[in-house]
Amino acid sequence: MSVQRIIVIGGTGFVGGHLVHRLAALGHQVSVLTRRPERHRQYRIGAKVQLIQANPYDTEQLVPLLADCDCVINLVGLLNESGGNSFSRAHVELPRCLVKAMREAGVPRLLHMSALNADVNESRGRYLKTKGEGENLVHQSPGIEVTSFRPSVIFGPGDSFFRRFAGLLKLMPLPVFPLACADARFAPVYVGDVAEAFVYALEHPATSGQRLELCGPEQYTLAQLVEYTARLIGRHTRVVGLPDIIARAQGRIMSLLPGQPFTLDNYYSLKKDSVCSQPVWPKMGLQPRSVEAVVPQYLGSASSRARYYDYRSRARRSP
Ligand SMILES: NC(=O)c1ccc[n+]([C@@H]2O[C@H](COP(=O)([O-])OP(=O)(O)OC[C@H]3O[C@@H](n4cnc5c(N)ncnc54)[C@H](OP(=O)(O)O)[C@@H]3O)[C@@H](O)[C@H]2O)c1
Repeated sequence: MSVQRIIVIGGTGFVGGHLVHRLAALGHQVSVLTRRPERHRQYRIGAKVQLIQANPYDTEQLVPLLADCDCVINLVGLLNESGGNSFSRAHVELPRCLVKAMREAGVPRLLHMSALNADVNESRGRYLKTKGEGENLVHQSPGIEVTSFRPSVIFGPGDSFFRRFAGLLKLMPLPVFPLACADARFAPVYVGDVAEAFVYALEHPATSGQRLELCGPEQYTLAQLVEYTARLIGRHTRVVGLPDIIARAQGRIMSLLPGQPFTLDNYYSLKKDSVCSQPVWPKMGLQPRSVEAVVPQYLGSASSRARYYDYRSRARRSP
């Protein structure tokens, strides 16, 4: 496809690092907007990628930056609220400012990151509710062609899911790991496959209007994923599921700790299985990678060889 000028918002994080790398490798001109460029000095992916300081809530500032751009990618999202960083600000207000600026600048296309189970009707979990509100808002924006993405938990080098559990397991003095919502189900999806789904949508305008669920090939309970992580880092740990009432109390208490290792809102998110209803990969000509094929490369004994996955070596089947 022809070279596109793409603006990525929220592109300095885990998913952004992989996706921007892939877009640049395809020859696209990518500008990553960040609130704090000084925090991302290491973020240099080559001549085709620019890091630009911008306030994504300031429409007036955004409009000139978006001029002549072919597509905007919004990856902004929070797992926990803190200080002025509220779910509604990041998941709803930001997309509202963004689509307003896109309309004024005449940008026709938006690829928007949402989350599996995002739902405006969610009664308790504010992460999922606000993600649902933001997703609906962008899809209802006149004049903008939107594809949104609803992934389960995303894994790959730099993820927070496996690395966080590995860190917690290492801190455990006993070979027992008490786990909230141990039976919650996930279908973890590889970050390289998430990047490929964005590329597919960019190259296929017919995906406009679609909300694509992204899952990996296998489903696991949270307990199975934590036990697998323990094995990979050489721990003989038994995972013990906490009764629901204690899991809920743990969410309340741990949200008061520095770094909020677990919150009541995380608890509500875990009450819903994070698994897909329809596989999108056959249509895209892709076979998603499994946890077992990738995670040992950056978490296990082979992790000294960990590096960003080389997308060019990826075999793509014709759709
Ligand atoms: N990781 C997963 O397992 C997972 C699963 C489902 C959905 N998602 C969604 O995928 C997207 C990317 O996830 P990620 O893991 O790459 O996130 P991440 O590593 O935390 O990066 C998100 C980026 O968004 C920007 N940002 C954070 N808070 C913001 C705020 N309040 N206002 C404006 N910008 C803010 C930051 O960029 P600057 O500081 O440079 O501005 C940050 O680099 C998110 O929307 C997330 O909800 C992720």
